[in-house]
Amino acid sequence: MYAYQDRNLPVEERIRDLLSHMSPEEKVGQLIQLPAVEPPENMDLLEPWGIGSYLHCQGLTGELQARARKTRLGIPLLFGIDAIHGHCFQDGATVFPTQLAMSSSWDSDLLYKMARVTAREVRAAGIHWTFSPVLCVGRDTRWGRINETFGEDPWLCGDLALAMIRGYQNDGNLRDGIMACAKHYVAYGETLGGRDSYEAEISQRKLLDVFLPPFERAVREGEVASLMTGYHSINGQPCTVNQWLLREQPEAWGFKGFVVTDWDNVNALIHQQRVCSDIKESALKSFKSGNHMIMTSKEFYPALLALYREGLVSQGELDAQVAPILRYKFMLGLFDEDRFGTDAGDLASVGSSEHWDIALEASKASMVLLKNEGQTLPLATDARVLLCGPNADNFVAQLGDWSFGSAQANITNPDFHRRDFVSILDGMRGEFPKLLYNPGCDVLNTGEHSIPQAVELAMQSDVIVAVVGDTKEVHGEGRDRANLDLGGAQLGLLQALKATGKPLVVVLVSSKPLCLNWVKEHADAFICCFNPGSKGGVALAETLSGKHNPSGKLTISFPEHSGQIPVYYNSYSGWHIWNDSSKFSYCDTGPRGSYVFGQGLSYSKFSYANLVLAKQQLAQGEGLRFSVELTNESERAGTEIIQVYLRDEISSVTRPIKELKAYRRVSLGAGERQCIHFELEAEAMSFIDNELERVVEAGDFQLFVGASSLDKDLLSHSFSVTA
Ligand code: BGC
Repeated sequence: MYAYQDRNLPVEERIRDLLSHMSPEEKVGQLIQLPAVEPPENMDLLEPWGIGSYLHCQGLTGELQARARKTRLGIPLLFGIDAIHGHCFQDGATVFPTQLAMSSSWDSDLLYKMARVTAREVRAAGIHWTFSPVLCVGRDTRWGRINETFGEDPWLCGDLALAMIRGYQNDGNLRDGIMACAKHYVAYGETLGGRDSYEAEISQRKLLDVFLPPFERAVREGEVASLMTGYHSINGQPCTVNQWLLREQPEAWGFKGFVVTDWDNVNALIHQQRVCSDIKESALKSFKSGNHMIMTSKEFYPALLALYREGLVSQGELDAQVAPILRYKFMLGLFDEDRFGTDAGDLASVGSSEHWDIALEASKASMVLLKNEGQTLPLATDARVLLCGPNADNFVAQLGDWSFGSAQANITNPDFHRRDFVSILDGMRGEFPKLLYNPGCDVLNTGEHSIPQAVELAMQSDVIVAVVGDTKEVHGEGRDRANLDLGGAQLGLLQALKATGKPLVVVLVSSKPLCLNWVKEHADAFICCFNPGSKGGVALAETLSGKHNPSGKLTISFPEHSGQIPVYYNSYSGWHIWNDSSKFSYCDTGPRGSYVFGQGLSYSKFSYANLVLAKQQLAQGEGLRFSVELTNESERAGTEIIQVYLRDEISSVTRPIKELKAYRRVSLGAGERQCIHFELEAEAMSFIDNELERVVEAGDFQLFVGASSLDKDLLSHSFSVTA
């Protein structure tokens, strides 16, 4: 028996021992991650190359793992998958709302629970690693992958991601958890024009101030096991070859995990990004820059071995790249157990009612009520409701991206995820027995429609619920949109329904915010649920009937027009704009989007009062303590999400007009009042200055506390930091 096989020895000692027995070929093999079945020949490389990891190989994990155990040193395989809103690649598993939808809950405890459920179901399949969460700051809503983000605020992105990482990784006890992967590193959502996998122009200061902090928290506070290198380039340099990004930054944060490239990044350096002339150059550069595991670029294996033999890569360098991969295999317990996806308890938990209850809770928490004129909602359950709109019964749009396997491969399988799915139509039938239904039109098609029939039914009903939005053809990887208006005849449908004079409730089932100025102006009520997941039908129906009191708040702003993008709340004051006092608007749009970050109503009515600061003058390094009184003035129990923003009045670089620094979900009974205490650390007042240092500058600050990022919803108080 070798020392590395002794489960009682410390992990670092086991790694050292194992490395001492490994050949250079076995070491390079550990750096390779291949898709198992596409093409199937990849599986034949397991023994000859000593492959370190496979991705997307449900159903094959037991067999492959058994083969790996029979190799010379018996190094187990690591299996990875994109379980990004539940273990969605697997039929029967629990499908949660998408990350963007979930972010509307501002509920880190719920995200933690969702990640625990996902980890349990993933691990039951013998898989150890999910490529989640996404820490991209979602500011350009044209981008096809906005649905994968936590929205536009970097601090909230970091906070919610941290909860998911802790859930996946079981608070550090990986033997009963899975590895998380913070991706896509870094600023992948900030490419020019919202084009996927393109070029980004971002100053070093902005990277440090806005885009890196969520990743820094994931590493420092979440001890995230892995980072995924973005596809894109920043300031002319592909992330894949950015040593500062991949090595220096993570090392400075104390990163113990490893970096995996995204799909075929190494070959893209030659063929797409054209910064390397051949595979040897791209293998050398990506290796030296700090990528540990190479996803799908098979050509890396012979190239790196050749480089090693030529002396361009040393044994020490090779060991340093392999060690963290082995570390996680040890930490996951893979060397010490024979659990190849047959753990009875875990298997039984897949899609269990306990898990679906959490998914339903998540779907409900992601509902955002944005308009409720004259208390149109909630609806009486005996009302004659006309349900229409193309997304009222749209399985694919309701579940959202990454629900059907890699590249949505199972989308055409008529059974996949159907068993536990409740469409909005079915959910509404359960809640409103007198329901009428007509889809009215298609999401994208402008041709055939049934608007006249829908209008006829509207005339026979008391109220109309129209579910509009987008669907898979116009979002996802490589599917960015220039036009964010409602597609097909959807606006025409809404206008025709409105003309009947019946109250019109609009529901958005969409991967992203769309331009909904008409809805804002003319709908009587409006609910946004993005992609609300398998139980979204129940969650929406119960929200409409009032069984569920909505509490979600937007984490992303809705543009009035796609030419207004980017339109995030934490923008700059600007000047030289004649027609608007807020000074950062276009002359043909309002100052912000139609709905903005932090907005969301409830059937309860909350009011804020008495914002009191413990001290109004702080020394540098001192934190800020304050309290605010929240009252539920209504007769319904409900939950409010209190938001805390800061503005640095004068600073050495231009700073956002306000930035989120804290939030709290508070549930209050009818008529209840509570004094809520907050404490912000000095770090909350800091930013990256022109010397690229994080500083807190002496001077005046403004504290804002309230219901959304809009000034009208916020109490404010000044304080200062003295030198
Ligand atoms: C995506 C990643 C994903 C990977 C593996 C890539 O195309 O950008 O987010 O994790 O594929 O499926």
